[in-house]
Amino acid sequence: MSHKPVVLKIGGSAITFKEKPLTPNLRVMKRLAREISKARISKLLIVHGGGSFGHPIAKEYAINEGFKTKEQNIGFCWTHSAMVTLNSLFVNTLIQRDIPAIGIAPSSCILTKHGRIYAFDDKALTKFFEKDFIPVLYGDAVIDVAKGFSILSGDQLVSNLALKFEAERIIMGVDVDGVYTADPKKHSSASLIPQLTLKELKKMYKNLGDAGTVDVTGGMLGKIKELIPAIREGITVSIVNATKSNRVYKALKNEKVVGTYIQKG
Ligand code: IPE
Repeated sequence: MSHKPVVLKIGGSAITFKEKPLTPNLRVMKRLAREISKARISKLLIVHGGGSFGHPIAKEYAINEGFKTKEQNIGFCWTHSAMVTLNSLFVNTLIQRDIPAIGIAPSSCILTKHGRIYAFDDKALTKFFEKDFIPVLYGDAVIDVAKGFSILSGDQLVSNLALKFEAERIIMGVDVDGVYTADPKKHSSASLIPQLTLKELKKMYKNLGDAGTVDVTGGMLGKIKELIPAIREGITVSIVNATKSNRVYKALKNEKVVGTYIQKG
């Protein structure tokens, strides 16, 4: 059994009701906590997304566009505050299953520059990790040294953490079964792609460019794009449906599971 860590991302659309502002999906959270507990992964880092806690407020105040007016500051605070609420709901659910989960606020230790991670004071995070706590980070509103502030996505964070902690694998728990040939929410003919290499992935991006700016996979390729630096270093990525029972569990255990598996080559 490898002692290299696993980085698990839980998409905001899996643990919140995406169409209902500030509404957590506690049932999914509890099931995921059970699955994470049962899998007994000793070296684990968790990142979760914003779903209906992060995105609506961030959008309303255009946080991702950077600082323009002082009125946005309150929106920045609301965005962060909503993410703290979601984080503590998830962290509490994990602790109830005896998982030593510790919420870590990216806005307190990360600065971005033009939206990209620029400075990361990871001393406390590293100590928690070394002492076998399970850090739980999240997509957050952060200070940006170029544009004032920005939204740091959980996906960018996942890639950064996987490289920093030399992870063996990344597991992306989303609300669809994996990467499809077309948006499965719009096209019934869309079929799941079980395996991809970096080369094949790059070809998909190229085709995407040719077809215009619309992401036919329904945003999935954009997410994966963030993970390319990690895949290039040999870290594998499993994309699985976190809204369905045991998919995350099986991925954590490295068992065969419905989803999309991406490796360097
Ligand atoms: C977004 O994080 C965080 C905020 C909007 C504050 P993500 O981009 O990782 O969230 P999901 O997984 O897509 O919901």
